[in-house]
Amino acid sequence: MLDSGLCDAVIISSPNMTHYEILMDIINHRKPHHILVEKPLCTTVQHCKEVAEAAQQRPDILVQVGLEYRYMSPVAKLIDIVKSGTLGQVRMVAIREHRLPFLVKVNNWNRFNCNSGGTLVEKCCHFFDLMRLFAAANPVRVMASGAIDVNHKDEVYDGKVPDIIDNAYVIVEFDNGSRGMLDLCMFAEGSKNEQEISVVGDIGKVQTQLYDVFHFYFGSNSLPKSTFC
Ligand SMILES: NC(=O)c1ccc[n+]([C@@H]2O[C@H](COP(=O)([O-])OP(=O)(O)OC[C@H]3O[C@@H](n4cnc5c(N)ncnc54)[C@H](O)[C@@H]3O)[C@@H](O)[C@H]2O)c1
Repeated sequence: MLDSGLCDAVIISSPNMTHYEILMDIINHRKPHHILVEKPLCTTVQHCKEVAEAAQQRPDILVQVGLEYRYMSPVAKLIDIVKSGTLGQVRMVAIREHRLPFLVKVNNWNRFNCNSGGTLVEKCCHFFDLMRLFAAANPVRVMASGAIDVNHKDEVYDGKVPDIIDNAYVIVEFDNGSRGMLDLCMFAEGSKNEQEISVVGDIGKVQTQLYDVFHFYFGSNSLPKSTFC
């Protein structure tokens, strides 16, 4: 395909653990191809660094990571407000995601850390990206605690039980003194809001909620939608 001369740009939407090899093939190809790669860029820091370095050697191509949360209407509005300066200097970014478990993927690749990079990479890269965007700074310290408490414990693939965590608290400190906090629970179908984001500056606060598509507002995570609506 790359040799054919038929395409100018490539979208990479394969499983996370395949991104590195595909990215390097395209970036190092003699013909230029712009790239949109689905998040996460790669599953390891080393691979991300190698891809970034390779991309810098190719000023003739654009490589973009598809961090689509930035473009969801409520989040895009939040970004506009923060960037307008209305909040002053951002001090705290709090993100809560209380949702349903990971969906099934082709060949169940997302059940294992070695394939996805782990829950905090696979799903939460969106939130760490937003924290960094809102804080307008880079992270310098991370504190986290997570566990496998509920999900996927009864699943077995090729003799192996999934090893991805299903809940965590994460605090990120940024180099300008701002802090971000993520509260993740992936066995919380009963949540009113699947995701809640708040940004607090020294002179104001803004918050938004992203409703889950199933509208589970209250109650047990084992009861169907009609019970709650
Ligand atoms: N909101 C988001 O930003 C969002 C949402 C879902 C998925 N994603 C990302 O999109 C990517 C794909 O996820 P998905 O949910 O579509 O997974 P999926 O398992 O549903 O589909 C992956 C597809 O890639 C194909 N594939 C596997 N290995 C390949 C290879 N080496 N080369 C080419 N194709 C290959 C599979 O046959 C399958 O059709 C992942 O990186 C995932 O993290 C992003």
